[in-house]
Amino acid sequence: MQSVTKSHSARRINYLARKLGIQSYLEIGVGKGRTLFNVDIANKTAVDPCFRFDLPEAQKTHRNISFHKTTSDEFFSRLPHGAKYDLIFVDGLHTFEQTYRDLCNCLIHAKERTVLLIDDVKQKDAFRQCATKKRLIRDAVKPAIIVKRGTEMFSRSSSPCMISIHR
Ligand SMILES: C[S@@+](CC[C@H](N)C(=O)[O-])C[C@H]1O[C@@H](n2cnc3c(N)ncnc32)[C@H](O)[C@@H]1O
Repeated sequence: MQSVTKSHSARRINYLARKLGIQSYLEIGVGKGRTLFNVDIANKTAVDPCFRFDLPEAQKTHRNISFHKTTSDEFFSRLPHGAKYDLIFVDGLHTFEQTYRDLCNCLIHAKERTVLLIDDVKQKDAFRQCATKKRLIRDAVKPAIIVKRGTEMFSRSSSPCMISIHR
């Protein structure tokens, strides 16, 4: 499992974790674990309805990771209110509605200085962020929620810090 190449995301997250002394990490949408298995944070939580690796094997090998084979909606619906994370990486279902819901749920489980990273916020084309073409037309009149290419907001205020990642 560790043989997967270290992703840009893992390098970025490890940098932030070192600088900010981050102890707990939540990743929504894990896939093959390219980021998850390369993130050096003491306590990790992984959520994906369809992990793309041998889950029982990973559970044995990575005792510091809590695996949840479910959707982010389901995961958050069962998560105790008091559960908070220092850094959250949102990289699950990339539709507008789901990402917005994930963001709202993350805010409930954020501490004052939690870092939220949302991947792939600028899609290659408008179709990729919508579940259906019909929605695409309807959503065309809505403002987009987040950020432009390369936007980075690093806040020292009491609100969680949000950084968008664009590839
Ligand atoms: C782009 S991949 C994640 C890549 C991973 N974060 C990385 O950096 O290597 C997206 C993953 O989101 C998962 N996914 C799809 N719908 C989801 C949902 N509703 N909740 C959580 N994960 C979801 C997919 O199964 C897929 O594995």
